[in-house]
Amino acid sequence: GAPIRVALLGCGTVGGEIVRLLTDQADDLAARVGAPVELVGVAVRRPHKHPELPAGLVTADAAGLVTRDDVDIVVEVVGGIEPVRTLLLEALKAGKSVVTANKALLAEDGAVLAEAADASGADLYYEAAVAGAIPLLRPLRESLVGDRITRVAGIVNGTTNFILSSMASSGAGYTDALEEATRLGYAEADPSADVDGYDAASKAAILASLAFHTRVTAADVHCEGIRTVSAADIAAAASLDCTIKLLAICERVPSEDGAADAVSARVYPAMIPSAHPLASVDGAFNAVFVEAEAAGQLMFYGQGAGGAPTASAVLGDLVAVGRNLVVGGRGPRESTYASLPVLPMGAV
Ligand code: NDP
Ligand code: HSE
Repeated sequence: GAPIRVALLGCGTVGGEIVRLLTDQADDLAARVGAPVELVGVAVRRPHKHPELPAGLVTADAAGLVTRDDVDIVVEVVGGIEPVRTLLLEALKAGKSVVTANKALLAEDGAVLAEAADASGADLYYEAAVAGAIPLLRPLRESLVGDRITRVAGIVNGTTNFILSSMASSGAGYTDALEEATRLGYAEADPSADVDGYDAASKAAILASLAFHTRVTAADVHCEGIRTVSAADIAAAASLDCTIKLLAICERVPSEDGAADAVSARVYPAMIPSAHPLASVDGAFNAVFVEAEAAGQLMFYGQGAGGAPTASAVLGDLVAVGRNLVVGGRGPRESTYASLPVLPMGAV
């Protein structure tokens, strides 16, 4: 078939791995999509810093790239709210499908992006935005969509889990562990988003929105980070045969008076008994439990951060969108979400 033409926004930790996989696995991807997948442009902030990319592909003009006639899919791995929000809305309005790893933007303006996608008939996929390589959003959006999910809870930030487990296992200092997480490509551009819990809160908002078919934003999520967790706290937890983990917990809370259920979403460091499965999730791994009325309990576990694991999730989305373009289908529509009341921050 005719090639599926991809514009990539951002070529850092994640984008670099996407380019590598697109090149190394070109034949396999073409076979799975049913058409060749062709990279037609890469927008970065500083083109001169990217001698590894073919000169003809690189541009600093992201706005010009996203609406080009020869682009079918825009893959965004830049991060942050602006200018990305404007770029992705322009792309969706022009009928380009979007694949993004940008949890901060989705947790703030997912509704606006979903409306733009549904208005133009474009796809919006974002598996990489939560829990890196772990297939978690597709199961919530598709496999479990016929069930009634009651709870989604677990470890969704690799950087803080890396820091807490380094402090607990090798006695590493907080600052050294954060530097190492940054060097390994786990941390956000501004790592305070990780250590203050905002990245996990964005992910909790996305998980709660998908699980409960409602709109939850990062501002709705009660959020405490790990900055104040000291070596003494970790030692005290160990003396009680516990470990400290940064948890994200999203729950459907039944109303007592028969009114609509409500949603509670919160992020905070918690003491976990060493025998609990979450206690042995180390390094940049993530683990998430999902509870649904008919399915019962499910556990999702794997690498939650890093260039290659995240690129794996992006490539999965790219193949899904490419297949949709080849056969004329579309992914889930999400502009129709109802609105469950969100409990005030800190409640429950
Ligand atoms: P990096 O900081 O490594 O890369 C960011 C890239 O975006 C760089 O190539 C940069 O250009 C480019 N860029 C910055 N501003 C602009 C702009 N205005 N226009 C065009 N390009 C721009 O980030 P990551 O790869 O780590 O993360 C990217 C996204 O993926 C973020 O949303 C992050 O939250 C998400 N993510 C990251 C994970 C990880 O483990 N790293 C895991 C899951 C999601 P230049 O190279 O010239 O500086
Ligand atoms: N900074 C994020 C983390 C990247 O550490 O989990 C993956 O979303």
